[in-house]
Amino acid sequence: MTALLKAHKITKAFPGTLALDQVEFELRPGEIHALVGENGAGKSTLMLIMAGVYQPDGGELFVEGQPVSLHDPHHAQRLGISTVFQELALAPNMSVAENVFTHTQPVNGAGLVRFEEMFEATERALAVFGIKVNPRVPLRRYSVAVQQIVEIARATQRQARALILDEPTSAIGERESERLSQVLRMLRDRGVGIIYVSHKLDEVFAIADRITVLKDGKLVGTVRTAATSQEAVVRMMVGRELDQLFPPRDGGREDTVLEVRNLSGPGYTNVSLDIRSGKVLGVFGLTGAGRTELARGIFGIEPITGGEILIFGRPVRITDPRKAMNEGIAYIPEDRKQDGLFLEMSLLDNVAAACLRALSGPIFMHGSKGEALARDAMSKLMIKARGVEQRVSSLSGGNQQKVLFAKWLARHPKVLIADEPTRGTDVGAKAEIHTLLRKLAQEGAAVVMISSELPEVLGMSDRVAVMREGRLVALLDRGQATEERVAAYALGTSGDGAAASGRTDNE
Ligand SMILES: Nc1ncnc2c1ncn2[C@@H]1O[C@H](COP(=O)(O)OP(=O)(O)OP(=O)(O)O)[C@@H](O)[C@H]1O
Ligand SMILES: [Mg+2]
Repeated sequence: MTALLKAHKITKAFPGTLALDQVEFELRPGEIHALVGENGAGKSTLMLIMAGVYQPDGGELFVEGQPVSLHDPHHAQRLGISTVFQELALAPNMSVAENVFTHTQPVNGAGLVRFEEMFEATERALAVFGIKVNPRVPLRRYSVAVQQIVEIARATQRQARALILDEPTSAIGERESERLSQVLRMLRDRGVGIIYVSHKLDEVFAIADRITVLKDGKLVGTVRTAATSQEAVVRMMVGRELDQLFPPRDGGREDTVLEVRNLSGPGYTNVSLDIRSGKVLGVFGLTGAGRTELARGIFGIEPITGGEILIFGRPVRITDPRKAMNEGIAYIPEDRKQDGLFLEMSLLDNVAAACLRALSGPIFMHGSKGEALARDAMSKLMIKARGVEQRVSSLSGGNQQKVLFAKWLARHPKVLIADEPTRGTDVGAKAEIHTLLRKLAQEGAAVVMISSELPEVLGMSDRVAVMREGRLVALLDRGQATEERVAAYALGTSGDGAAASGRTDNE
């Protein structure tokens, strides 16, 4: 069988980094082929070469047996290769519909765009993923999750022969991921070849026919999913055994640090919750449940419309993030591109910027102390970079996420709200971030971890808050928080929609 896409001895170097070293890869028609590896292994670089964004320095690409050199992404698209990039490539100020139908807008005889038709098609394309949006409004009004689905819908409706998805589920919840799997299986059964890049091995094992592992720019191997195990693939990825255990949950001193009473704002209503030092509070919910909105309200990004916030029992008015930071609150946002990082600045400047006051003096004078902090973060979080001077935009996606994390850790917050802190990080880094969160709690911080990954929530949390449709529907102690129960509350199938906060039902 001729491969749809084949990479032969592909090599790509960036200044100071050999991102790909003579890599072999092959995509067959009608297969889902997963590509996995640690942060910085070269996955995105290989995908960007196959999508025509980068030119390789050496080696050859074949499309259906023919050697090609892809000039640009449009060229790749004309050859039937469609891509969902890791860093979403959308036009936030254009409408949702225009984003779904870039370059393929339906036109009438006079060459005018048939908007109504485009709007309806957009609604249909997104309904497939269980998402209801207004196709006419600018895309920027929607969450990262919706934006990621828009990008997926755009790629899947192009009728490509080869579909490349680089971490398509990093920002979406379990429900949308399920739908995506269904869509991909359907496309596969029609003969489409699909490359699936992901750090979520459960997902990979559920969907992929074959798995290719990259490590430090080199091919480790390609295996059939049915003939291997998750442990074996992890060993190929990291080159050693790795236990997937969560850090032990012995906490520090327990005190209520932050309390919200009947808090309301855009996307959440009447939330009452106490956040305690020494503990990790996990916040679970489906996409759109209001978790990020609540965090943004507490951190002063979006104004609250009702209720109050107390810190150590003292009511505070948090009208902007600066006030929140002065109260010792830190918020690691889910969208590193929009609110988190200065992409064009170095790793050092990013880490130092977050703790300017701790370092005293303007940013260009942070000198050796900032550098020590940045180096410390690099080694603690295993950030793969040439040095602290490397620009953040040239780090791999997962390593950017780690820099964002490092920024806030350097401030030693009293309350840390981490929104999807392990999004896009590899297994090793994930465990590292879990350990750091727990350490922070042991040192006396109150940690709030918003996550869409149920195993992570259950493995890390001392208490689990479940949100649904903007309301807090359950607050469970660790002993009560079983997978079934948490999922049932999140889905609204627990048979008890009126579950109050602090509710404790007996086993
Ligand atoms: N534009 C660039 N300039 C310099 N170095 C780069 C650039 N793009 C990628 N790199 C480097 O190439 C290596 C591979 O990066 P790549 O983005 O392909 O990794 P990845 O496997 O996709 O990682 P992740 O899981 O974190 O997304 C990294 O060391 C990265 O820093
Ligand atoms: Mg990547």
